[in-house]
Amino acid sequence: MSPLNDRADGAGHAAIAGTDLSGAAGAVEDLDRLILLGLAAHLHRHSRLGQDAAHQPRLSPGPGQDLARQTSPYPGLGRDAAHEAGTIAGDLGAAPRHRWIAGHWLAALHEAGLVDRDPAGRYHDLRGPRRAELATARTRMEAARLALGYPAELAELMLRSLRLLPALLRDEIGVQALLYPDGEPATAEAVYRGNVISRYLNAAAAEVVRAQAERATRPLRILELGAGIGATTADLLPALAGRPVEFYLFTDLSPFFLDTARRRFEAGFLRYALLDIAHDLPGRPGELDLIVAATMAHNAPHVGRLLGQAAASLAPAAGCCSSRPSASTPSRSPRCRSPCPPRTGRRAGSTAGPAPPAPTSAARNG
Ligand SMILES: C[S@@+](CC[C@H](N)C(=O)[O-])C[C@H]1O[C@@H](n2cnc3c(N)ncnc32)[C@H](O)[C@@H]1O
Repeated sequence: MSPLNDRADGAGHAAIAGTDLSGAAGAVEDLDRLILLGLAAHLHRHSRLGQDAAHQPRLSPGPGQDLARQTSPYPGLGRDAAHEAGTIAGDLGAAPRHRWIAGHWLAALHEAGLVDRDPAGRYHDLRGPRRAELATARTRMEAARLALGYPAELAELMLRSLRLLPALLRDEIGVQALLYPDGEPATAEAVYRGNVISRYLNAAAAEVVRAQAERATRPLRILELGAGIGATTADLLPALAGRPVEFYLFTDLSPFFLDTARRRFEAGFLRYALLDIAHDLPGRPGELDLIVAATMAHNAPHVGRLLGQAAASLAPAAGCCSSRPSASTPSRSPRCRSPCPPRTGRRAGSTAGPAPPAPTSAARNG
């Protein structure tokens, strides 16, 4: 680890001092497991992956008959049938901007051994979870959330999200309805603030901001991407107290979050703007001193392009702080370094549109 990462890691651990972390990685896996089984159950119920076995034609079709078509809404079924992720997205009725999600789910289920993938990248033999398996996963989720210090709202959020998957995927409801069930921020706060992982990540990110402020030679220009409910912002602003800041640009895809943040934060240097990371980042090359992206860079249609743009926007001594909880959190996240970690995975993000070519520029050195 770099000295900056060491420093951030130290601050993160200080924020969760006294917490028993021995079961943390297993607890995160248990939370993931419930979601994976929920996704498998959803696909089993609502896509041809679950219908393949159920609609096997057992008799030879008579003249002019096609038993598979008679018994199922899906053509091309059978034990050996394999399907493109796009076909499955169609079965689920995914809205155009959410179609990529089916591929993302299937890749995760494949990694977890819950569905097979042929050499052409098509999926088959989905294992629909049994009721008892789901019940066990649910019990373990409860223990896991307690171990990680998540309040009851997290369990409710996970179960509600699974229940509402069809409507979410069809774009009939937005994620805000889940995170702010009664217009109250308690659920969002539970997910992004009031738990061991977030406390570690936010404290580590604040330490990066502090380090950046200490070595700044001019008033800081900071851009936060996908700032959402401001869970990270709330911990970063105190680290800037008494420091010269030219601006802290709080951005998100959704105006909902900008309005909420305007009411919540008071710092005079805060500015607000809508910003979709699928498009170009604002500002001149080398203008920024710090870019913050807390659990949001995965929304980029092309993470490498986003990082390339971030690197171009940063001044020579600038920093980049990006975090994303994982099974290995808190020991490996966040990623705080100069240069930003080069990563060029190609995937579709939260915004529709073709993935651009991979960037050629590496992230800037600090
Ligand atoms: C997991 S939340 C992160 C919350 C926030 N960083 C915090 O700490 O409270 C992801 C955020 O990214 C935003 N987002 C999703 N897709 C985006 C995009 N294409 N461009 C910008 N923001 C996006 C969402 O609106 C949401 O607020």
